Amino acid sequence: MLWTEKYRPQTLEEILGQDKFVSDAKHWKEGMPNLLLYGEAGVGKTAAAGVIANFVLGEDKESNFFEINASDDRRLEVVRTTIKEISSAMKIGNVPHKIILLDEMDGMTPDAQNALKRLMERYSSNVRFIITCNHRHKIIYPLQSRCANYGFTRLSDEEIKTALDRILDFQGISHIESSQLEEFIGTLNGDLRRGITELQASVSSNTPLSMQIERMQQPYNELLEHILNDQYELALKQMHNMIHMSVDMKTICIGMHDVVVKKSLPTPKKFKYLRVIGESEWRSTNMTPKVLAAWMIGQLI
Ligand SMILES: Nc1ncnc2c1ncn2[C@@H]1O[C@H](COP(=O)(O)OP(=O)(O)OP(=O)(O)O)[C@@H](O)[C@H]1O
Ligand SMILES: [Mg+2]
Repeated sequence: MLWTEKYRPQTLEEILGQDKFVSDAKHWKEGMPNLLLYGEAGVGKTAAAGVIANFVLGEDKESNFFEINASDDRRLEVVRTTIKEISSAMKIGNVPHKIILLDEMDGMTPDAQNALKRLMERYSSNVRFIITCNHRHKIIYPLQSRCANYGFTRLSDEEIKTALDRILDFQGISHIESSQLEEFIGTLNGDLRRGITELQASVSSNTPLSMQIERMQQPYNELLEHILNDQYELALKQMHNMIHMSVDMKTICIGMHDVVVKKSLPTPKKFKYLRVIGESEWRSTNMTPKVLAAWMIGQLI
């Protein structure tokens, strides 16, 4: 079983960080506002939606909680049919309302989002929505303004350590040195899901954590080598491959940052690279990934 599922938080107390959200949520037992949870990958947005459903719906969760991954089916039709049907059917049991989770809503088209806006008002006595997304600006403003907005932040290294220590404890694993674990955590940039996934991969394949770190950084090291060897076409191809495998440009920038910092390079070159990586990360929320990849390589020449 995947550890990210096995150790998914079930109660408010088990959510790490996200203090404002957790403290507000304690008042939602009798009913909650519509919610917009936004922020980086792997910081607990989807998990928090499940926790809220447990907390508000209790034993009647099964019949009143619906999850729709908005990036799988992003069309207007889904809002018109599926979401409308669920919203209009009466809640079951002794619950304040139903809850519909629209996960990864930034994948949903603006016209579908507009249709949702009307449903939200029409069925407000029967249903609450939890919208999650990575980029709040991809959610139309009328939806943002109908929800209580919570920005989920990357977890601190200490919080990640708490989570991973707990898992290792439960799994009865004691052979991982704490210095290795700390170095590993340093490469995660606050993404707990990635931490849990890579830790499980390391344990189940019997790979020492240090090798797991190397394995995680390998594509970025290769990319850096291509650039250092003036193989810019190859570098671009490698980036395209990563983009094709759904790695976003922000993640690529962070990965590149970590290997450039580690690499021994002449100081001016190192900081030129870091400046370009920084600017690329900043551009990553607005630019098309392939176009940005080409721009970035151009700047690194
Ligand atoms: N704040 C947190 N507290 C406790 N566990 C967490 C937290 N964040 C992540 N996790 C762990 O990581 C797993 C993945 O988190 P989750 O799926 O909620 O991330 P997400 O924010 O929805 O990411 P994405 O944007 O990629 O969908 C959870 O099942 C849980 O095990
Ligand atoms: Mg999620």
